[in-house]
Amino acid sequence: MTSTEHHDPKVPMPDQLPSSPVSDTATPTSGEDHNPATVFTVRDLNVYYGDFRAVVDVGLDVFEREITAFIGPSGCGKSTVLRCFNRMNDLIDIARVEGQLLFHDIDLYHPDVDPVAVRRRIGMVFQKPNPFPKSIFDNVAYGPKIAGIGGDLDEIVETSLKGAGLWNEVKDRLDKSALGLSGGQQQRLCIARAIAVQPDVLLMDEPCSALDPIATGTIEELMREMKSQYTIVIVTHNMQQAARVSDRTAFFTAEADEATGQRRGKLVEYDDTGLIFSTPKDERTEAYITGRFG
Ligand SMILES: Nc1ncnc2c1ncn2[C@@H]1O[C@H](COP(=O)(O)OP(=O)(O)O)[C@@H](O)[C@H]1O
Ligand SMILES: [Mg+2]
Repeated sequence: MTSTEHHDPKVPMPDQLPSSPVSDTATPTSGEDHNPATVFTVRDLNVYYGDFRAVVDVGLDVFEREITAFIGPSGCGKSTVLRCFNRMNDLIDIARVEGQLLFHDIDLYHPDVDPVAVRRRIGMVFQKPNPFPKSIFDNVAYGPKIAGIGGDLDEIVETSLKGAGLWNEVKDRLDKSALGLSGGQQQRLCIARAIAVQPDVLLMDEPCSALDPIATGTIEELMREMKSQYTIVIVTHNMQQAARVSDRTAFFTAEADEATGQRRGKLVEYDDTGLIFSTPKDERTEAYITGRFG
């Protein structure tokens, strides 16, 4: 990787964060027992907004090239926890994160870690598609340009659009405005934009909630394909979606604190998706997945 910019040597840049195993292993993981590597290690994670502790003592591991789903009723802290994984909570003035959050073996909250570098390795796709008011090409080329990623931009744009399953629909109108695309196409463009900087991880916060069922199906199909290259963490309020696409599911809930009465987010249960939806261990999980609450 070439870069001519000046960097503070104390600040780990993306290529100093652990290298992506995608490029140096070719181990097939489908259809056989495997022990996937741990990508994120979360321990005793507490997130505060001012004095309000929104998330209490969350601990979980996220595994490589799996899809991990966060489910649970509104306000239980799913987005808050997701935003910790690429330091997006840094952008919220009153947010404070405590506890341990490792990416491979790097402490993501170490003072020397550059949050911009983190966000390059750990990309995010939001609920509402948010393309820039620019051409389709420029939307995808923007990140690699800013990040100083070398190589042929045309090629990066094509590969990213192919990776997001959008190339065939837009290849003849790359110079047209992204805002002319349908909602589902815009969301795939945002996925192309996220993968254009070659991240390892994609965080998706309710990526289909603004889409119709057909566009949702397309994105779910895409996620299953992308799993061979990326680790994906998805927040969804749609339990069927979690059951369809994810390998592991974390069920969160919000419970009133005895002392303050405030509703705080907790991780109730985290397991293989099949187990969560067939034989959950916790009665709160069972009540939620059977539709008795939430
Ligand atoms: N920027 C913020 N400022 C203050 N409180 C927030 C902020 N974002 C979320 N919260 C609060 O934190 C709790 C968890 O919210 P959130 O993570 O958005 O839940 P979910 O994604 O599960 O719906 C809620 O009580 C919410 O009101
Ligand atoms: Mg949310």
